[in-house]
Amino acid sequence: MVDHSVSPVQQRNLEQAWNCKVLDRTGLILEIFGERARTREGRLQVELAHLSYQKGRLVRAWTHLERQRGGGGGGASFVGGPGEAQIELDRRMIQARIDAIRKELAQVVKTRELHRAGRRKVPYPIVAIVGYTNAGKSTLFNRLTGADVLAQDQVFATLDPTMREVKLPSGRRVILSDTVGFISHLPTMLVAAFRATLEEVIEADLILHVRDISHSESEAQRRDVEEVLDGLDVNLQSADQRILEVWNKVDRLSTVTRQEAITAARFNDQSPVCVSALTGEGIDELLQSVDERLGVDDTYLTLLLPPHEGQLLAWLHENAEVLDRSVDEHGETRINVRIAAENRGRLLAQLQTRQLRIE
Ligand code: GTP
Repeated sequence: MVDHSVSPVQQRNLEQAWNCKVLDRTGLILEIFGERARTREGRLQVELAHLSYQKGRLVRAWTHLERQRGGGGGGASFVGGPGEAQIELDRRMIQARIDAIRKELAQVVKTRELHRAGRRKVPYPIVAIVGYTNAGKSTLFNRLTGADVLAQDQVFATLDPTMREVKLPSGRRVILSDTVGFISHLPTMLVAAFRATLEEVIEADLILHVRDISHSESEAQRRDVEEVLDGLDVNLQSADQRILEVWNKVDRLSTVTRQEAITAARFNDQSPVCVSALTGEGIDELLQSVDERLGVDDTYLTLLLPPHEGQLLAWLHENAEVLDRSVDEHGETRINVRIAAENRGRLLAQLQTRQLRIE
């Protein structure tokens, strides 16, 4: 791998000299993204970027051949040759595939727009996971959704596999969205290709910035990610409240190093949540933090439920966070709950039909 751009001719010469496949930076990144793309849209986007890249290189190789033959001087002179015919053929094939992918993508994007519109109707906040490649986003996504995915809930069954519904401690439901990993100097064609996917981030109610805090380049990676977010017009200053830093892989740090890092962060007015997506450490605190960030409109209520209201009690456990609960001598349950704004209306309606009141 050559950590730079390599011209098609340089690539061919190096391949001959070293007798192996040579990839330049963009080529390698495209290969990796191609392997990792999980959704149909992602795969199509990467293939499109790959083809545009190949097409550009063909043209450059062609120009090079022209020059070698000394045919470059007479602009209009179109001198035929065996290599040239092949290149023209390749170019046409690539163009045909590009056209086909564009058509398919347009269809996929339309479907995604429909999903998005459908999702907007369900007032669940969107929490997007971003981070440098290998920071542990997918591991965290699986950890957060694994225990909480509501298998019986079909509302989002047709969603992209990188979006899942998660229930937070207060009973609030959110949609957790995993995104592609960022890397330094992400080739512009890829940023463009993933713009549509990354738009989920722009629209997110909360952004979890997952960092591999055990990595020696962790700080530089943070800057790279913030740069990409900046490029997406996520205004980091005004969006401050929208970003929650998640320091992952703390299992790899000694207690002392971890404490030092947290102290330094506090000094800079940061309050990251430390987790290990691998061991599960800190995950409850993370869910709690996400809940709090999204919970500015939560209400705290105390209810007195007669003994036969078991069903309502079960509903509260499912849709609110039960903070305190006691049963008095008459068998009545006094219950203290925190409930998200979007569930409050449903609770009030139930209280009304049962002719119950808030304490
Ligand atoms: P990209 O898809 O490249 O963007 O990576 P990602 O951010 O989704 O990272 P992924 O979840 O694939 O994890 C990368 C590697 O880090 C894997 O080998 C994980 O097992 C490992 N890993 C993730 N979280 C932790 C953690 O908390 N502790 C340790 N020790 N390893 C972790």
